[in-house]
Amino acid sequence: MTPRTAQTSAPVLDTLAERWSPRSFDTEHTFPEGALRGVLEAARWAPSANNSQPWRFIVARRGSASFARIEGALAGFNREWAGLAAALIVNVAEVEDAEGGPRPWAEYDLGQAVAHLSVQAHAEGFHTHQMGGFDREAIRAVFDLDERLRPVSITAIGLLGGLEQLSDTLREREAAPRTRLTLEDLILVRD
Ligand SMILES: Cc1cc2nc3c(=O)[nH]c(=O)nc-3n(C[C@H](O)[C@H](O)[C@H](O)COP(=O)(O)O)c2cc1C
Repeated sequence: MTPRTAQTSAPVLDTLAERWSPRSFDTEHTFPEGALRGVLEAARWAPSANNSQPWRFIVARRGSASFARIEGALAGFNREWAGLAAALIVNVAEVEDAEGGPRPWAEYDLGQAVAHLSVQAHAEGFHTHQMGGFDREAIRAVFDLDERLRPVSITAIGLLGGLEQLSDTLREREAAPRTRLTLEDLILVRD
């Protein structure tokens, strides 16, 4: 058990307890072409409303033109560290079906697919860090996404890196205790 392992009030799967979101990634590590298949398969098999599977992904490995474009669209506080990751994945929700009908659960379903991806990644020895801090319109423009395709979040993925490559502020955050509300705070009714 690492110091970052969740302290739980009941047993949970090791992979869930040990997953956490670092900012320091190993810059020596790269993904060979096709290496992210496992984590994308985990996303693919997530449940979704009416099996609509409204998740889409832009997968960019460090060094590629797409990676640079995504990095350029990140908010400054994320651009500071996310370029260390071996890949950046833009998580996109298809919010309308082919006939233009609404898909009210698209973002919910996408989130669940990304959760599957992050758990599979951790089980494979990788770390992920999701980000909401980015310019959605910039991503939309750069990747030519129409209104049906809504960029919702970006996942940084790679191997954990050393703390020395982070600024003092980020290093402090990286080592800060992981906290959560108590289970009692979350349960509105337990009958
Ligand atoms: C939708 C979403 C948006 C997030 N946005 C950011 C972000 O812009 N920058 C950042 O550093 N972390 C971001 N995070 C990471 C959370 O801060 C992190 O998951 C939370 O503090 C819990 O930490 P843990 O994942 O290590 O358990 C985001 C996470 C999610 C799920």
